[in-house]
Amino acid sequence: MTPRRDATMSTAEKTFSKGLEGVIAAQTEMSFINGTEGILEYVGIAIGDLAKNSSFEETVFLLWNKRLPTQSELEAFNNELRANYSMCDAMKQRIKACPVDAEPMHVLRTLVSSMAMDDASPNENSVEAARHKALQILATTPAVVAGFDRHRRGLDFIEPDTSLSFAANFLYLLNGEKPTPAMERAFDICMITHADHGLNNSTFTARVIISTLSDMYSAITGAIGSLRGPLHGGANEGVMKMLNEIPTVDDVEPYIMNKIKNKDRIMGFGHRVYKAKDPRAAELMTLAKQLADDTGNSDLYEKSHAIELIMEREYASKGIYPNVDFYSATTYHCIGLKLDLFTPMFALSRIAGWSGHVIEQLGDNRLFRPTTDYVGPHDAPYTPISER
Ligand code: ACO
Repeated sequence: MTPRRDATMSTAEKTFSKGLEGVIAAQTEMSFINGTEGILEYVGIAIGDLAKNSSFEETVFLLWNKRLPTQSELEAFNNELRANYSMCDAMKQRIKACPVDAEPMHVLRTLVSSMAMDDASPNENSVEAARHKALQILATTPAVVAGFDRHRRGLDFIEPDTSLSFAANFLYLLNGEKPTPAMERAFDICMITHADHGLNNSTFTARVIISTLSDMYSAITGAIGSLRGPLHGGANEGVMKMLNEIPTVDDVEPYIMNKIKNKDRIMGFGHRVYKAKDPRAAELMTLAKQLADDTGNSDLYEKSHAIELIMEREYASKGIYPNVDFYSATTYHCIGLKLDLFTPMFALSRIAGWSGHVIEQLGDNRLFRPTTDYVGPHDAPYTPISER
C-alpha cells in the first residue's frame, strides 16, 4: 500500500499545528493578549484598570458594545439584567429533578441546554435576538447554580434580590445572606478577570458551534463542556485539591519537587499563550492575600506563594508561570464557595465572553471546517469477515 496525499492541496500548502498553536482562527474586538509581556486588555483597557475601577456589569457592557457605557446606559443595562435574575417554574422543576450527587458543572451544562426549551424562538440568530438570549442566560445562571446547590443541601430556593449587583445576588442566592461589601467587591473582581480571554478552548468551541448557524444555547452548552476540563477552567479545583494535600508551608518543597520528579503537571501553572505571569493571576494574587488574611486562611496564601516561588525557580526558563486558576482557588475558597462550585463560578462570568464571541461570529460568519492530515493506509483490501 502506498501512502497517497490529498490531491486538492499540495503538502507544502498544508500546515499542521498540533493543538492549533499559533493559528489565527477568528478576529475579535473584545480582548487582546500579549503572552510575552503578560498583557490582557478588554477593548483596549488593561485588565488591572478594569479590576480596580469597573464592575462586572460595566465590563459586560464594554465587551458586548465595544465601549464603556454612560451612567444612564449602565443603569439601563443593570435594570435589564436584574429583570432577568429569576428562573422560570420549569427550570425550578428541572433542578429538583437533578440527582443531589451530580457534579455542578454537569448540572449547569444540562440546564443551560434546557433553557432553549423555555424560549419561544430558540433558533433565532439575528444580532438583536442573540444579544437578548445572551442577557437572559447570563442573568439567570446564578439562580440555576445557586438553586442546584440549595437543592442538594435540602434547602428551598431563594428568590433573587433585584436591588443587588450580579455578584452580590449570586452570593445571596447561595447563602441567603447579603455579602459584606468586601466580599461582594472581591467576587466582582473575580467575575471581571474571568469574563473574556481571546480564543481559548471554550470560546473557540462556542464559535465553532455557532458557525453552523446552530443557536446560542448550543454554543454556550458546548463551551461549558469544554471549560470543565482540568486543562482549562477545571484547573482551579485541581489547585485547591493540591493545596489541601499539602499539610503546611514546610511541606510545599518536597510535595512539589516530588510532582516534578514524577513529571506530573502542577495545576494552575502554564498557559498556551502566556510565557510570562498571567496578568489575571497578578490581580488575583493581591486579592487572595487580602481575603486570606481577612478570613483566617493565611496558610492557603502562604502555601500558594511558596509553590509559585519553587515553580519560578524550576520552570521560569520554560515560560511556565501561574495562570488565572492558581490564585483564584484561594480567592474562591475565602469567599466561601464549595470546591465544586469553583468552575461553575468561572462559567457564570465567561458566559459574557462566550456570548460576545457568538455575536461577533454571527456578524461575519464562515463555517469552521478545518482539515486533517490523513496518516492511515490507502488501497486497503476489504477482507470478508469469515477470513479475518
Ligand atoms: N506543570 C508542569 N509542566 C508543565 C505544565 C505544568 N502546569 N504546563 C506545561 N508543562 C510542560 C509540559 O509537560 C511540556 O513539557 P515537555 O516539553 O518537557 O513535554 C511543556 O510544558 C509544554 O506543555 P504543553 O502541554 O504542550 O503546552 P500547552 O501550551 O499545550 O499547555 C496547558 C497549556 C494545557 C494550560 C498546560 O500548561 C497545563 O496543562 N497546565 C496545567 C493545567 C492548567 O492550569 N490549566 C489552566 C490553564 S488557564 C485556563 O484555561 C483558564
